[in-house]
Amino acid sequence: MKTDASASEVGMSEKPIRLMLIDDDEEDYLLTRDLLEGIADIEIELDWLADADRAVDVICDGGCDLYLVDYSLGRIDGLAVIREALARGASAPMILLTGLDERAIDLDAMRAGAADFLEKWRLNPTLLERSIRYSLQEKQHAEELERRVQERTTELARANSALQAQVAERVRAEEALRTADRRKDEYLSTLAHELRNPLVPIRNALEIMRLAGSDPAVFEPSRAMIERQVKHLIRLIDDLMVVARISRGMIKLKYESSSAERLTATAVENLQPFLTKRRHDFQVDLAEGLPPLRVDSERLVQVLYNLLHNAAKYTQPGGRIRLGVEPEGDGVLFRVRDDGPGIPRDMLQAVFEIFFQVKRPDDDGVASGLGVGLWLVKRIVELHGGRVEARSGADERGSEFLAWIPATPPDAEE
Ligand SMILES: Nc1ncnc2c1ncn2[C@@H]1O[C@H](COP(=O)(O)OP(=O)(O)OP(=O)(O)O)[C@@H](O)[C@H]1O
Ligand SMILES: [Mg+2]
Repeated sequence: MKTDASASEVGMSEKPIRLMLIDDDEEDYLLTRDLLEGIADIEIELDWLADADRAVDVICDGGCDLYLVDYSLGRIDGLAVIREALARGASAPMILLTGLDERAIDLDAMRAGAADFLEKWRLNPTLLERSIRYSLQEKQHAEELERRVQERTTELARANSALQAQVAERVRAEEALRTADRRKDEYLSTLAHELRNPLVPIRNALEIMRLAGSDPAVFEPSRAMIERQVKHLIRLIDDLMVVARISRGMIKLKYESSSAERLTATAVENLQPFLTKRRHDFQVDLAEGLPPLRVDSERLVQVLYNLLHNAAKYTQPGGRIRLGVEPEGDGVLFRVRDDGPGIPRDMLQAVFEIFFQVKRPDDDGVASGLGVGLWLVKRIVELHGGRVEARSGADERGSEFLAWIPATPPDAEE
């Protein structure tokens, strides 16, 4: 009764087409059934609904592929059924059948959304078959179009959210630039201060020396003071030069054999005068079994020095400072703890940013600096393939800085 070609064209594959006639006249049903039997190319199963009052509900339930709706259904007309069914979301095509020959109905049917309009007295199997085929085909096209529109809408939505993410990213980047710029401005004034500060005592000492002539009792303390201040200036400027070289990627580590014990001893020795001056309770805890290290000793001493110097600088005189050194994984973990003012939780990461300084209302002026010490610590440790971390001390008191370095950095040449 059917051929595959015409079946696949209307997309019905193997399944017969389920068609429902909505007509209160049994004569018409029999007539339609005979007509459908005359169709050779497609297999059609015919259902019949005589009760016009249920028509809209039945169509909306959607059990059939296609509906033939009679124009005159007693109290209501077929056009109203089609309109109502479409308004309630029916998706199967509906063909309007009429016994009348009226062009006005044809146009109304089209406006109401009928898939086709057929006059009963002209119907024959060929005409009916063609109308069914076209109606189903058109529905398929409409669905295909809908699917493509949906796809395109999804694509657009995706592109749109990607674009929004880009915009947000750019806004963030601009904000970061502005912050960096602001910090640089603040930094310039800090820098000027820090560089000028040692010059005042130096000038005073020179003046004293000029007045005192060669009296050694006055001369020697002044000379010692100048020497201290010059050393401090040199350290500041050295730090800045290292910062500049690391920033431009121009630093190359000089690896050599060393040990955690030796690095610790050198850093502590360099800092001893400051620790003594601040009367801190300072202790080093060296664990057993520390592995030998292959590192840039000078830079790592600077790392330990910067961490200890911060602890000593920011902790009130007489404070407690501990340096722990222990083996961990394939390397060594250095741990500097103090019981000073600590670092606010939301700044534990930021302290490693360049020029970052925690602003404290009770700053006593001892805690001066350039805000580059921890940045250098992080960069040098990371150049060695290690990691740093800042934590709040136990019971929210003081702070703790951890620096882990591998015994042999990944890029150390033999
Ligand atoms: N042990 C610590 N206790 C409390 N605050 C600290 C401690 N170490 C660092 N900080 C805070 O982190 C900030 C950044 O430290 P960093 O060492 O980078 O700069 P700095 O000490 O201000 O200057 P410098 O460049 O001379 O080291 C400090 O200004 C300080 O506010
Ligand atoms: Mg510092």
